[in-house]
Amino acid sequence: MKGWFVTFEGPDGSGKSTQIQLLREYLTAEGQEILFTREPGGNPVSEKIRGLILDRENEDIQPLTEALLYAASRAQIVAQVIRPALEEGKIVICDRYVDSSIAYQGYGRELGDVVEQINEAAVDGIMPDLTFLLMVDPETGRSRVCRGGEMDRLEAECLDYHYKVYEGYQALAKRYPERIVLLDGTRPVEEIHRDIIGKVREHFGL
Ligand code: ADP
Ligand code: TYD
Repeated sequence: MKGWFVTFEGPDGSGKSTQIQLLREYLTAEGQEILFTREPGGNPVSEKIRGLILDRENEDIQPLTEALLYAASRAQIVAQVIRPALEEGKIVICDRYVDSSIAYQGYGRELGDVVEQINEAAVDGIMPDLTFLLMVDPETGRSRVCRGGEMDRLEAECLDYHYKVYEGYQALAKRYPERIVLLDGTRPVEEIHRDIIGKVREHFGL
């Protein structure tokens, strides 16, 4: 692939959107062409799947159904948006990707390895070059999300579930140290941003 693929991960309220916005502004000012997208969503079909997954009325969605819906949304965005952009040589920044499924469905819903099997076909060989994992403990994440207004179906899950997600992310950071950059999301926004820029420059030789 000619382009670079960068993903942001972390529990809800860990500061992903804030950091993505800052990185986007930085790279745009450097004259780079950026494609930004998010999961679940990022194109009309995936946005519809997103609505279905996050709707609090759908409380009877089964864990496996949930994992399959995220994977379905991912298959669509990979084929329609991410792969073509990387082939054109663009920088693709994605707010969440397959690591979210491993943390939320694999660990949070305790589905385990089946999540990776489902996603193998969905990602179709496209894995991030670099992943920034912002870590905040579930209480901090929740208090930040609560300040932002109404919670969606996953944000409204009990703290116990969010602790399992947190554990999942820690396991992923250990498993893929060459790809995943672990960052303490409780530090000041500007400090985290500086670390991210440093890593991006180092990794891609900007
Ligand atoms: P996410 O996209 O991971 O859910 P956001 O970037 O939307 O997180 O941040 C959630 C809330 O936390 C927002 O109100 C944001 O202003 C605040 N926030 C983000 N980063 C920090 C930080 N490093 N320290 C304190 N508050 C932060
Ligand atoms: P979103 O509003 O994007 O949350 P945030 O702003 O915190 O990133 O909602 C996405 C929700 O979906 C979030 O709670 C994490 C969850 N999720 C999964 O459970 N599995 C996945 O594969 C993905 C991509 C997201």
